Amino acid sequence: MLTQEQLAERAGLNVRTVRRLESGGLRQPRTTSVLLLAQALELDGEERALLAAVARGVTADDGNGERAGEGPPRAAAIVPRQLPADVTALVGRARELAILEGDGAGTSTMDGLAGTSTMDGLAGTAGVGRTATVDGMAGVGKTALAVHAAHRLAHRFPDGQLFVDLRAHSPGAAPVEPGEALARMLRALGVPGDRIPCHLDDRTALYRSVLAERRVLVVLDDAADDHQVHPLLPAGPGCRVIVTSRRRLTCLGESLSLDVPPVAEAVALFIRTAGVGRAADAPLDVLREVVERCGRLPLAVCVAGARLRAHATWSARHLLGLLAADRLGELRAGRHDVAAALDLSYAGLAPEERRAYRMLDCFGAVFEVHEAAASLGTTSARAARLLEGLLDVHLLREIAPGRYRPHDLVRDHAARTSSASAAAAGR
Ligand SMILES: Nc1ncnc2c1ncn2[C@@H]1O[C@H](COP(=O)(O)OP(=O)(O)O)[C@@H](O)[C@H]1O
Ligand SMILES: [Mg+2]
Repeated sequence: MLTQEQLAERAGLNVRTVRRLESGGLRQPRTTSVLLLAQALELDGEERALLAAVARGVTADDGNGERAGEGPPRAAAIVPRQLPADVTALVGRARELAILEGDGAGTSTMDGLAGTSTMDGLAGTAGVGRTATVDGMAGVGKTALAVHAAHRLAHRFPDGQLFVDLRAHSPGAAPVEPGEALARMLRALGVPGDRIPCHLDDRTALYRSVLAERRVLVVLDDAADDHQVHPLLPAGPGCRVIVTSRRRLTCLGESLSLDVPPVAEAVALFIRTAGVGRAADAPLDVLREVVERCGRLPLAVCVAGARLRAHATWSARHLLGLLAADRLGELRAGRHDVAAALDLSYAGLAPEERRAYRMLDCFGAVFEVHEAAASLGTTSARAARLLEGLLDVHLLREIAPGRYRPHDLVRDHAARTSSASAAAAGR
């Protein structure tokens, strides 16, 4: 029901392109043009696949190499909706959300296809321009942010949303192999199990083929490193990926390092978790002190809130007293456990980095490389490398070049790990 002009305008294509497509004069329509048309015509997954096949057929008839019907195994039009439940109300993080939703500086609009060509030009690697990574220490709120952003973005990805927990830090579970993650995503996209190839590279290739014509949002939660993530990046212009990781990932597009929230947001999170009835009548300075004792780490703040909620006789002041005595011991509730979360980060370190981590408390609240080197009995260059290893996994923060300040809970945890390891050695 559209004129060629109207269709061209809707699709953001040159009217000549549309004319030549219709007349069969355009022998090799670009995939992007076909996708733009599919979008403008509001085609669903199956119709879109059909259009893409016909577009390929146009070139095949002319005998220039590309044969129609030899695409990837036909995936049934299943629309996966795998996002886990959103946090009821995300507290704060407005700036980070704006970046993930594509309104931030340096990001393409991520909405549809506009802007992706420049990103392609800059990046040139599979999925890079359309990938955002959220990194930060354990419990800082990476998953909560990514899931919330994904729910808000979902409507822009009509072909579905995939979510995979890559389990870099799951107690008792090894990180998920990329091949395993691919097999699961392929099945979710409708590829029958017996059509999934054995070799990792072939799985990646099939995954990219299946996603080439679709608009799917992929969330990869708790990634271990670049090696695990890279095979899981689609290359099609219509897909977007959000990766979360405790490690700073190097070769991926937009990256966002999440820090602990400001005190007002931490207090709001505490009140939300403890319940307004339990926390609202407490003096504000007590609430502020509680969240500061939690290092404003959202996981710790939520656990503290849950502890108050669980004990009808406690006041916020009483909780503060407990936290002053042994905060890591108190910051445990159900499956949420700050010390256990940090244990998993520690377990991922190389032996030399572990030794540096255990000495962290001795270096001081704020320290410089030479001080760490002196305590470790090594050269500054060597110490700097070890500290870099801790920085990479957010067990340390650099507040100025060569000046470091670990998070309070990390310092506590380092001291605790050091005594536990000394006790184990003495046994
Ligand atoms: N901005 C936030 N608003 C509400 N809850 C949050 C927020 N950030 C974190 N949380 C809560 O804090 C806890 C830890 O956050 P999570 O996203 O699991 O951390 P991470 O993935 O960085 O380890 C979760 O219970 C989460 O729901
Ligand atoms: Mg997480």
